[in-house]
Amino acid sequence: MPIARVPAKVNLALSVGGLGGDGYHPLATVFQAVSLYDHVEANPAAPGAGVSIALAGPETAGVPTGLENLAARAVDLLAAEAGRAPDVALRIRKEIPVAGGMAGGSADAAGALLACDALWGLRTPRDRLFELAAELGADVPFALLGGTALGRGRGDRLTPVLSQGTYHWVFAIADSGLSTPAVYREIDRLREGSVLTEPGVGDRLLVALRRGDAEAVGAALSNDLQRAAVSLRPKLQMTLEIAEEYGALGWLVSGSGPTVAALARDEEHSLDLAVAFTASGVCRTVARATGAVPGARIVPAAGPRA
Ligand code: C5P
Repeated sequence: MPIARVPAKVNLALSVGGLGGDGYHPLATVFQAVSLYDHVEANPAAPGAGVSIALAGPETAGVPTGLENLAARAVDLLAAEAGRAPDVALRIRKEIPVAGGMAGGSADAAGALLACDALWGLRTPRDRLFELAAELGADVPFALLGGTALGRGRGDRLTPVLSQGTYHWVFAIADSGLSTPAVYREIDRLREGSVLTEPGVGDRLLVALRRGDAEAVGAALSNDLQRAAVSLRPKLQMTLEIAEEYGALGWLVSGSGPTVAALARDEEHSLDLAVAFTASGVCRTVARATGAVPGARIVPAAGPRA
């Protein structure tokens, strides 16, 4: 049955405006998709069974299997669109850390959209899939698109960014996740009374990506939410310091955290950084990945099974 493979993301820049009337913050962000994947398999279920979710893989702790799971909501949304019952058994194999700031939940929703579209033979136009994705969550459209892209609005209005080269990342994954809304609330608290400018992404990063200059990309990494994630989880400061100490080209909290992303010089250096993170005991586990990689796609069943 159809299996969608969906990458995690890291935000190379994340500029956050003031809280809007819709409960969201306007963003300017640069996403990069990285080679850490969830696989979502859609199987037919008996009439009236509704959606069920079975989880597998190293990163499943705390993932809901009911309708609170964004992937189940994706099935419901696509089924309503197609005028059919959402009778599907999803199998999700998770490698993307849960509540880690790497859009794992969004990846599963994007995967469920693609896998059910294939299972039901809907051939939903790509533009419509992106609209449905944006209804599900701010990071879901990018999970479909992949590569490197500028995100505006809630992060869901995407424009591809020219980028060359392969970027070697090391991710230090914390013991437990951080809630995205809680991190946004914390940045509002920390910035209370400040005058906020429009969110924007500086040219420095975009030029560095266009040139494929990893050193310059490393120097240009930035994340407005980092302060809030560190405020809620002060131990993250130590993780960031290890990345610096071991010569990362750049380091930052990924999205709303608490995963810390460190950009290595090359594959060998990424191994050194991974060992340093592991040996220091500052994180639960370490993952290495490269970017940019393509967005969600259907893969042959012979690949890693969901
Ligand atoms: O869209 P998503 O479900 O991923 O967002 C989770 C929560 O994160 C939102 O309900 C909101 O509190 C916060 N958020 C925000 N501004 C954004 C994206 C998310 O305030 N641009």
